[in-house]
Amino acid sequence: ERHELQIAIDGPAGAGKSTVAKLVAKQLNLFYVDTGAMYRAIAYKALTSGIPINDEEKVSQIAQTAQVVLDHSEERLVWCDGQNVTQAIRNPEISRAVATVAAYSKVRERLVELQRREAARGGVVMDGRDIGTHVLPGADLKIFLTASAEERAKRRWIELRNAGKDIPFEEVARDMQRRDRQDTEREVSPLEPAPDAKILDTTGLKVEDIVAEILRLAQEG
Ligand code: CDP
Ligand code: CDP
Repeated sequence: ERHELQIAIDGPAGAGKSTVAKLVAKQLNLFYVDTGAMYRAIAYKALTSGIPINDEEKVSQIAQTAQVVLDHSEERLVWCDGQNVTQAIRNPEISRAVATVAAYSKVRERLVELQRREAARGGVVMDGRDIGTHVLPGADLKIFLTASAEERAKRRWIELRNAGKDIPFEEVARDMQRRDRQDTEREVSPLEPAPDAKILDTTGLKVEDIVAEILRLAQEG
């Protein structure tokens, strides 16, 4: 049965998933779906509603009713209940809370449903933690992007600094390590490469070279 191209990109924080996924999507004229932004939006809603992040039942409840919308324009705006949360979801407090929220099975069920709905609209490049293993198990191409923990933390630290957020490198590295551990060790859809994923270690690689490699793999079919 014919369908449009689906590319799954998974990996730990700072591996370059969203940067690379956006460029690949543009080249191949596919939708780009940032699933991490959806989990971040739920964490944002919980925190701003005064719900303790450890309250699985209450967080699951707000996830059921949250209207999370990813805009497909160049700006890639992220909306939650009609509010533009694009910037707010990148804050360190959200980064620290998001993996706890993402471990809740009911939160995941709801967001996976939205993600599959996005994929049903047409060809996609989707990035996250469980895209190749769970969300799109039939994807045409599965990439597991990684890089050394040191380099990933450095990339994120520079990114935050460029956004005017001066956070000590050690703090960025520690938060990232903790989040990766939470994502890898959780019971529901943990971060792991799908058996049929191509693992790309991007340590020392430039964005354009990674994009070129993925385009090559996509063409190989
Ligand atoms: O961009 P970064 O790698 O920092 O993170 P993200 O892609 O925005 O994802 C934020 C968090 O959402 C991850 O650390 C996971 O806890 C969760 N997530 C997930 O569990 N499953 C996904 N498919 C995507 C994100
Ligand atoms: O989505 P993920 O957390 O995997 O990573 P990202 O947000 O795409 O990339 C994190 C930062 O690293 C961004 O500022 C990228 O521009 C940068 N980056 C890099 O310098 N070299 C690479 N090969 C990949 C990403």
